[in-house]
Formats: sequence, C-alpha cells, structure tokens
Amino acid sequence: METIRLGIIMNGVTGRMGTNQHLVRSICAIRAQGGVALADGRRVMPDPILVGRNADKLAALATAHGVTRTSTNLDAALANPDDILYFDAASTGLRPELIMKAIKAGKHVYTEKPTAPTLEQALAIAQAAKAAGIKHGVVQDKLWLPGLLKLKMLRDSGFFGRILSVRGEFGYWVFEGDWGQPAQRPSWNYRKEDDGGIIVDMLCHWRYVLDNLFGEVKSVACLGATHIPTRVDESGKTYKATADDAAYATFELDGGAGQMPIIAQINSSWTTRVRRDDLVTFHVDGTLGSAVAGLTDCWIQPRAATPKPVWNPDVPQTIDFFATWQQMPSNMVYDNAFKVEWELFIRHLFDDTSTSFAWDLFAGAKGVQLAELGLKSWAERRTLDVPPLAGAKPARS
Ligand SMILES: NC(=O)c1ccc[n+]([C@@H]2O[C@H](COP(=O)([O-])OP(=O)(O)OC[C@H]3O[C@@H](n4cnc5c(N)ncnc54)[C@H](O)[C@@H]3O)[C@@H](O)[C@H]2O)c1
Repeated sequence: METIRLGIIMNGVTGRMGTNQHLVRSICAIRAQGGVALADGRRVMPDPILVGRNADKLAALATAHGVTRTSTNLDAALANPDDILYFDAASTGLRPELIMKAIKAGKHVYTEKPTAPTLEQALAIAQAAKAAGIKHGVVQDKLWLPGLLKLKMLRDSGFFGRILSVRGEFGYWVFEGDWGQPAQRPSWNYRKEDDGGIIVDMLCHWRYVLDNLFGEVKSVACLGATHIPTRVDESGKTYKATADDAAYATFELDGGAGQMPIIAQINSSWTTRVRRDDLVTFHVDGTLGSAVAGLTDCWIQPRAATPKPVWNPDVPQTIDFFATWQQMPSNMVYDNAFKVEWELFIRHLFDDTSTSFAWDLFAGAKGVQLAELGLKSWAERRTLDVPPLAGAKPARS
C-alpha cells in the first residue's frame, strides 16, 4: 500500500510546547509508529523541517530526535512546494503574519492557540484560509484528554440528566524565579507587551472545552488579577509582571432548546497551591448525577448514590465525602491528546470525505474572541454577551 510523504514546516519547535508536545510526543511518535493510516489503507509519513532563529539549537534538536532537515530561513522553507503544511508553535504575536504568509504560499495550516493576539487578526487569517481553499486546524488539545473524554462519554450516555453547572479549577504555583528556583513557565507569559497573561492563554482553552462539551458560551464575566507584581526571568533579571496571573470567570452556556442556561465558573491561576485531584478539574452537576474530571481520571456520583448531608457545625462531619464517589474505569488506551489531534488533522488533509475536523481557524477565533471579551469584562467590570462569529460552525464534539 502507498505511503504518502507529508512535508511539514515546523516553526517554533525549540520552544516548550513545540519540542515536547508537537515534535517529540506527536510528529516523532507518529513517525515511529509508521505514520497515520488513512481510511483507504494508505499511510501518511510526516517529514518535518524544523524552522527557527537559532541554527545551533535547531541542529541539536534535530539530531536528538532523528530529524534531518532544519532551516533559519522561513521564506525559503515556504517556497518549497514539497512541504505542503505550515505548523506554528512560535510566539503568539508573530502568528497571524506568519500564517498569512503561509496561506499566500499555498500551504495548509495547523497552529497552536491563541491563533492571534486580537479577534480582528484571528478572523482575518480564518477568512483568508477559507478564501484560499486550504485546510486549517488549531490545537484544541484538552478535548482529547482522558478525563474530558470520560466527561463526554457521561454526557452522551445521558448520565447527567440536565446539566446545571460546571466548576473548573485550573492552576498551580508558578515559581517567581528567585532564590535559585527557576520558574517553570517562560517569562513572556507574565508580560502583556509580549502577549502574555492567563486570560489570553486559558480562555482560548475554556472556549472550546465549554462549547464542545457543555454548550455554546453566551456570556462572560471575568475578573483578572496580577497577584505577583515582579518575577525573575530566564537570565536572572528581575522584571515587572505586567500581565494577569489569575482569572476568576463566570460564563453562561446555551443549555439547549427551551432549557435554562448552564452556569460555568472557572478559576485559572498561576498563583495557587494545589490541593485537588489534578492540575485542572471540572466538577459537573446534573439533575441525575455529578462528575469530577481531572486530566486523566473521572469520578462520578449518580442521583441514587448521593449522600444526604445535614448542616450541623456542632458535630464533626460523619460522611467521608470523597469515599462516596466512584472512579470511572479506563476502558481504552488513551494516546497523547496533542498526537490524537495531529492524527485527525493529517487524515483531514488527505481524506476528502473526512468532514469531522471541526477545530479550524474559525474555532480558534472563537477562543480569541472569548479572551478578548474576558479582558474587556475585567476592564469594564461588567458581564458581556458573546456574539456568534460569522463563519464559525456550531461546536459539539
Ligand atoms: N495548547 C497548549 O496547551 C499550550 C500550552 C502552552 C503554550 N501554548 C502556546 O504555544 C505557543 C508557544 O508557547 P511556549 O510555552 O512553547 O513558549 P516558549 O517561549 O517556550 O517557545 C516559543 C517559541 O517561539 C520562538 N520565538 C519566540 N520569539 C520569536 C521570534 N521573534 N521569531 C521567531 N521565533 C520566535 C522561540 O524560539 C520558541 O521556539 C504560544 O502561542 C502559547 O500560547 C499552548
């Protein structure tokens, strides 16, 4: 059976996400497993060229992972007709300009989120991609986390009844970088002028999670904070944190025809110490049952197994609440979430009958829209409606 070579121009792969999730856990893993199988039996084998600014870093990365091609010249890479896909995991600010360039060069596009710093730019690249007739996709990795796939299965099986509310807790302590303890995230995350900030970063994610799993986001009320005003960067220099490091947001979601809205509250914080099941947890309450999902695991409590607490602060609690939940089994092997989406996108590139790839630049623009409205809500201290975006498909995975 035929093997198709897929030349991928990978920009920004010396970064944290580019190296770990996209190059190593996705593209190298796909190469190691013999490519991606298409419905007709053909296989697609990715052949990446690593593009960036630092030739030595690129060479070291390529050697470490068995990649033969690198370049510091993006224009030359885009001019090669044998490489048909442009992938971007570099800095957010340059993204719309580089994606536009790739579209003009006739490339298909797959990109990290946020797709652009502003909604206007995000929509412009989505519309340019549509007009050019290229295929496009945006990383929406959380949808393929085992914990969230379990939530989706619960939803599809009717476990929840009518979903009332969703409470999300995301975050962990990101070290400030002083007393010899380097920060575990890049310093640009904490500088507004470099497109940092947790609202821009995380509301993009919450948009597709909420839209796809529970209901379209209809409104947002968001309060941001910069709890830690100074941090220490990669070179040991103290800098002013100009971007938000925590966000406390409430969303109204479409609860379905004739139904009340679902209320979602999500705290996102790089300034909190974890005492919960995982780095992100979603607690879903429905009329027939509740669930709490982390990255991997999911615990459930159906209506008939719900304990009956009575408020009496004079008596020590007699119910072990954690023991009243049942852990869902992992009935299948879950692959890396980034790799799963890469495989879906690669199939979408070569299989014209595949209409299932909904996570495109318009879906990415919806994430940027929510982040932008979150920032506006914070600045204006009010709840804002989230209007539909022209070109975007209704979400439901
Ligand atoms: N999907 C997710 O869960 C997730 C998580 C974190 C970050 N991200 C996104 O991934 C992207 C990268 O984030 P990261 O945490 O890997 O950051 P990083 O700082 O570790 O990496 C950034 C990359 O961009 C390159 N770069 C920076 N400035 C550049 C310039 N002027 N010209 C060319 N290249 C430049 C760097 O060399 C590096 O390769 C961001 O857009 C971020 O929002 C996504």
